[in-house]
Amino acid sequence: MTNLLSIQNSLQLPHSGENKALDKVIRASLKRKGRIGLTAVEHEILPWNADLFFLDESNLFKRLDTQKQHAILTECNDFILSESYFIEKAGLAYCAKMILAGETTEIRQMYGLIASDESVHLQWLSPFVKEFLRITPQGKFIYSITKMIDECDANTLYYLVQTILEGWGIFYYKTLATTCQREDLQSVFLNIVKDEAIHHKTGVALFDPRKLNTHAERKIIDGIKAYIDALRVGTQDIVSCVEKHTGELSLTELISLFEDLQTEITSTIKLNVLKEIMHQPGMEHFINNLEEKRYFFPYSAKSCAEIYIQQRK
Ligand SMILES: [Fe+2]
Ligand SMILES: [Fe+2]
Repeated sequence: MTNLLSIQNSLQLPHSGENKALDKVIRASLKRKGRIGLTAVEHEILPWNADLFFLDESNLFKRLDTQKQHAILTECNDFILSESYFIEKAGLAYCAKMILAGETTEIRQMYGLIASDESVHLQWLSPFVKEFLRITPQGKFIYSITKMIDECDANTLYYLVQTILEGWGIFYYKTLATTCQREDLQSVFLNIVKDEAIHHKTGVALFDPRKLNTHAERKIIDGIKAYIDALRVGTQDIVSCVEKHTGELSLTELISLFEDLQTEITSTIKLNVLKEIMHQPGMEHFINNLEEKRYFFPYSAKSCAEIYIQQRK
């Protein structure tokens, strides 16, 4: 039954905002659960400074005037917020699938609880995400997650999404929280991290490597590679944010930019975190195999720049 379940993630689903009665019951429900979010937020202070992205170490960035620097930084901040928003939004359809795929009452209960958390996270983040950024997902990461959610069976998702993605979410959101300049948003991320830790543990509790057939093993390897590839290529999205305000950069400029953004060092740190999360009982041979093929190594600044040019729209 689980293999036949298919969902449409509908990431572009709008917020209608027209049904005031529905908005009211959503707020009442959040209040009842003690999980009320923020209603209005001023947007004057950018949540993250240039140092989170290593832009303060980029010679190209430093040479730009203050106005352009601010525009790039705003673009990077918006990218992070929009990506987080869409990950939480994808969590809703994902949980709907996992509730239906649940083979026991407890699994369905657990996914009902997780769905409620993801709905709360979306509610908490939404006031920080400009309306036009809630329409089309940016970056490639969200699309590979959506593909996994659409195509994989429950046990495969217990590993790929519930264990790895949620585990990565703990690390990623914690970084966003500790570097965040705004207390209101910082507390949102810190609270989300607490939930993500439970979500990750659910994956560890449910995933059974003995149930993997050849098809599922293939999906697992593809999924693991997709996560690794997303990190190996470095900060492509940040470079894209820069280019939106500088115009098209040459290969030499791109190589220097990737070097200044410390692409190899930051990717190595991230890949090590990812590898640790992936190392679950029964999965060692998958990870060791990829490690032997040097899969967990980041690309050089030059390779990152070449990949960037190849994929430039
Ligand atoms: Fe979440
Ligand atoms: Fe989650």
